[in-house]
Amino acid sequence: MLSLTAFGAGSSEAGSCAPRCGSRNCHTKTATINPGGFCRKAADGPAAVIFPAQCYPEDAPPVYKAAMHYDVIPGAAEPFSDETLADPVKRGFYLATIAHCMECHARRPDGTPGYSDSFGKGGHVMTGPYGQAVVVNITSHPTKGIGAWSDAQIKRTLTEGIGHDGRVLKQPMARQIYFKKMKDADIDAIVAWLRTLPPLE
Ligand code: HEC
Repeated sequence: MLSLTAFGAGSSEAGSCAPRCGSRNCHTKTATINPGGFCRKAADGPAAVIFPAQCYPEDAPPVYKAAMHYDVIPGAAEPFSDETLADPVKRGFYLATIAHCMECHARRPDGTPGYSDSFGKGGHVMTGPYGQAVVVNITSHPTKGIGAWSDAQIKRTLTEGIGHDGRVLKQPMARQIYFKKMKDADIDAIVAWLRTLPPLE
């Protein structure tokens, strides 16, 4: 099995949990805030252990108060093999999928998922206690996307929550608490995958 970076705080209780996404931690049967389509299947694969803090016991699945609907990211419907994960771009795609990048970055301005036409395009305005944050275009577009940014700039976004222009990123993208724990090779893999996103504007 390949060794993958662990997201979130590991828990020794994890061993008793099925590898599933969606709830905050083992034994907390709250409704999900994460669409399971991002990782339900993928987490069945060799990297199931990366969700030690985001699983629920098989015998006590969460109770949802509303019907869940989610669209699976194209290409992420089936588990990833060790062989697939050895390819940096595919590994980056896998990591980005379970890291929910496209939950925000593929949203159309109206908030609906746009995996078919807005994959990485951004444009949705998120509102919260932090005020407003416009989801950035992370496609490889040279001017509208990240095409002209260096790997170091992009990595800093993930590991420090600082934008390419030095700004402190607002809460939706202040994810450094997770990404700074990742192995360099895994951060590199995410960047390698980002570079392959077809340019959109
Ligand atoms: C919860 C929503 C959300 C998720 C999940 C998310 N992002 Fe973001 N991202 C944003 C928002 C909003 C911004 C703009 C933040 C700001 O301007 O303060 C942003 C900005 C960025 C930027 C641009 C930073 C800059 O220099 O301007 C990059 C690159 C990026 N995200 C990559 C990613 C990657 C890669 C992932 C997954 C590993 C990811 N994002 C996950 C919402 C999200």
